Amino acid sequence: MIRLLVLLVAFVDQVPEPSPLGDAQLNYEFRCKSCHEPGQPGVPDVSVLRKWSPDAIVRSLESGKMSAMGSTLTPDEKRAIAAFITQGNS
Ligand code: HEC
Repeated sequence: MIRLLVLLVAFVDQVPEPSPLGDAQLNYEFRCKSCHEPGQPGVPDVSVLRKWSPDAIVRSLESGKMSAMGSTLTPDEKRAIAAFITQGNS
């Protein structure tokens, strides 16, 4: 029983904190990753997108080639996803 409890606590510990970045990561994984993981012909993979500026990604989601993907995202979500994709950029 104790072991079950320990397992449960360990599991609950891993649930991501609700934070803008956490949401962005989930959004990215659900809405972008299926197409933008490496190795898909004709799609710039995430290592390419990472070098873009966040603004350029937001523009693409608003009015560029990804506007269909962006149409169900709020402006905040678009900015958060762009920040998530490009995080670690200098
Ligand atoms: C159904 C597959 C699919 C999904 C889902 C998808 N993309 Fe794309 N994405 C593509 C393809 C294909 C291209 C290349 C389009 C082209 O060059 O004509 C692309 C291109 C892009 C580009 C470069 C656009 C440009 O102007 O060259 C960005 C930025 C981008 N995607 C971001 C995203 C983000 C962020 C998401 C999630 C919100 C997303 N994509 C979801 C298929 C997808």
